[in-house]
Formats: sequence, structure tokens, C-alpha cells
Amino acid sequence: MNHPPIADSRLPELLRAMPKAELHMHIEGSLEPELMFALAKRNNVALRFPDEQALRDAYVFNNLQEFLDIYHEGTMVLKTEQDFYDMTCAYLARAQADNVLHTEIFFDTQTHTGHGLSADVVINGLYRACADAPAKFGMTASLILCFLRHLSEEEAFACLEEALPLRDKIVGIGLASSEVGHPPEKFAKVYARAREIGFRLVAHAGEEAPPAYIWSALDVLKVERIDHGVQAIHDAALMQRLAKDGIPLTVCPLSNLKLRVFPTLAQHNLKAMLDAGIVATVNSDDPAYFGGYVNQNFTETFAALGMTSQHAYTLARNSFEASFIDASVKRAYIDRLDATFASFA
Ligand code: ADE
Ligand code: ZN
Repeated sequence: MNHPPIADSRLPELLRAMPKAELHMHIEGSLEPELMFALAKRNNVALRFPDEQALRDAYVFNNLQEFLDIYHEGTMVLKTEQDFYDMTCAYLARAQADNVLHTEIFFDTQTHTGHGLSADVVINGLYRACADAPAKFGMTASLILCFLRHLSEEEAFACLEEALPLRDKIVGIGLASSEVGHPPEKFAKVYARAREIGFRLVAHAGEEAPPAYIWSALDVLKVERIDHGVQAIHDAALMQRLAKDGIPLTVCPLSNLKLRVFPTLAQHNLKAMLDAGIVATVNSDDPAYFGGYVNQNFTETFAALGMTSQHAYTLARNSFEASFIDASVKRAYIDRLDATFASFA
């Protein structure tokens, strides 16, 4: 859809003001050093860094695994339902400041059950914050449980089982953690079960691993969205499939930069994806670690790639269209998006 022309000089302001949905962020990756230190103190957990700045200085990564190791260390400070609630509220406040109207939040129960917590402490804390989001932050929020792909399918089944009493608090199932060597088909049976139960399905695929992982996420796991998916660019048939079937990609440009998936933002393929007709969206992934929340992802990527207000509209609209919200809420959010663009014209 086209919208009235908007001056280039107003693009950064438009990117910040436009209503958007965020569909790819890991709540554990929103834990800022300040809150991490506060929770460490509250829960008597020792951190190996002397202060917040020393921790931030350690956020230099050569690949996904180097990030995952430090991310996992940070999750050790989370102990109580209140911790999960507080972490989620801190993220929701930041998202609200970026004019996010709806967010679908990833969490990995297995990280926390691996530290001796019970799944309900995690899910109830996260869910209480999501339930408070409309009144507290003027937005909607839902939860997607991600299996850890470096663990076995049997462990994913156990995780699903544990979450079932809280089924109504979770909208979907995802797949995260170390990608290369853990292809989607490893989780074929547990995804089939999740599908039977009625969960919406997504999976990280083609972040670092080749296009074959995206094909199997689609054809074996039967996911509705692909998280990252940027490696699809190397497979023309896959690009055509994604465009033809309108499979959304939840792209995370600053994450890709920090994890060296692309050497510079100017070499990122977001614009090429959009220009190829792919339903791409922009997201922050792990904003506390990757240098910014969703608006920072928009403004830096647009500047680096010379993208336009038409791209901005397409990305924001895609974010609502690709979300798992009810059709009437979706319509209302897109109306707000249209009103913002009209006010800038
Ligand atoms: N878990 C948190 N962030 C992730 C990412 N970018 N890829 C895979 N797993 C993750
Ligand atoms: Zn991710």
C-alpha cells in the first residue's frame, strides 16, 4: 500500500513515532546490566564482573555462541516470579517508549528449569507483566516459549509437558539457541505435538545456518514465521517460496551486526529482502546486548541502507500483519499506523 509523500528529513522522527509490533525479542536478552546487578544483590548471586560498565565492556562477540555463553550467565540472577515480572515490565516500558503497540516475547523455560526453578515461576511472572501491559503501558503482549535446540527433543517434550497446565498463558512455540548442528528436523515430533495442541509455531532458522534450515523449518516443522531467515538470500528458490507464500521473516539488524552475520549494516540484506517482496519485519532480538531497542534498529538500518518512508510503512504494516493478534485488534493498530503516516504527510 502507498501512503502520501513524506520529506526525507523527517524519516528518523517518523521511524520513532510510527506504531509497530515487535515479534522477535528474547526477554532474557532485555536484562540491562543495571537490573542484572540489582537482581544479583536481591538474590545473593555473585557476578564475575565488578560493575555494570565492566559487564557492558564484555559484550563483544564473534558469533552466536559467544553471545549465548554470556547471555546464559546473565540469566543466573533470575530466581523468583517477581524477578521475571520486573524484567518484563522494564522491557515493556522501553517498548512503549518506542511506540510498540504489540509485542510477542520469547522466553526459554529450559534455561531456568536448568537452574532449579519451576516452569510456573517463570511463566506466571512473565504472564502477569503481559496481562498488566494494556493498563500499565498501553500495549498488548503475549508469550512464545522457545525450546533450546542444543538440548534433545526429549527435553523439549518435557518442557512442553511442564508448560501445559499454563497453556492459556502462551500463544506459541519457538526454537532458539545454538543453530549450526541442530537443524529444525531434530524437533519434528515435538513441533507436531505443539501444533496438535493448537500453539502458533515459529523457529529461528537461517541466522547463521544455511537455507536448508529454513526449508526444513517450513516443510518439517510447519512454522508460520521464520526468525532471522537472512541466509535465505543465498537460495533463489527459497526467496521465491517466502515471497509467494507470504512467510514473514523477523529480522534483527543490530543483532546480525553484533554477531557478525554481516560485517557492516550497509551490507545488511533487509532492503534487498523487502525489494524482493518478502514480508520482513524489524526487531531487537536481545536489546540489552546488541546496542539498542527496536527504534534503534530502525534508525541505524535506514541510515545505513538509504531506505525510505515507503519501506518504513511496509515494515510497520508487516509487523502487525505477521503478528498473532486477533483480526479486530490488528485492524485497530493498522488504523493507528495509517493515522501517524497521514499526520506526517
Ligand atoms: N537466544 C537469544 N538470542 C538468540 C539468537 N539471536 N539466536 C538464537 N538463540 C537466541
Ligand atoms: Zn532471536
